[in-house]
Amino acid sequence: MPHNALYSKEEIEKQVDVLARRIAKDVGQSPTILVGLLNGSVVFLSDLMRRLYLYGVAPEVDFMVVSSYKDGHSSNGTIDIIQDIRSSIEGKTVIVIDDIADTGLTLLEVKKALAKRNPAKLLTCVLLDKPSRRKFDVKPDYTAFTIDNVFVVGYGLDSASRFRYLPYIAVLSE
Ligand code: IMP
Ligand code: MG
Repeated sequence: MPHNALYSKEEIEKQVDVLARRIAKDVGQSPTILVGLLNGSVVFLSDLMRRLYLYGVAPEVDFMVVSSYKDGHSSNGTIDIIQDIRSSIEGKTVIVIDDIADTGLTLLEVKKALAKRNPAKLLTCVLLDKPSRRKFDVKPDYTAFTIDNVFVVGYGLDSASRFRYLPYIAVLSE
């Protein structure tokens, strides 16, 4: 079991609250849709949307499943949209929600795909950011925690499908 808690349940709750306030201030009453990337974003998104509601935002919610393919060491890669959102995003403020920005490929490619559908605004929000790992030119608009190059699990993040259920974020130690 990973016992090295990096961020406790309480610290996460506090940061999610800070993020929700910032997002609420930015999006105001504009029609807003959260697009969660499954499976990693599920815990973060479910907490974040309820915080947003507390601060006056009533977003739609939809989900996407994507898988990414990186091309060796170069800054090339693609994603496959395994399951697309069913909602229209035209004219809406879209906030893509993911668990973590690592190389940045997923966020960059999802942004490109959604940008073609005429959203009013296209924003990205991650629980965790590992800027030292970035290979693709993308910066999340909202980040709860910035971390070093360590592998983390819990609060939605997995290692081979394990540990998503942990209420805290832990560094995986074998
Ligand atoms: P990217 O496309 O390289 O930015 O990769 C993002 C995806 O990599 C995330 O959605 C996670 O599924 C996975 N990932 C990257 N770092 C970690 C980690 O530390 N723990 C668990 N999953 C990670
Ligand atoms: Mg993942």
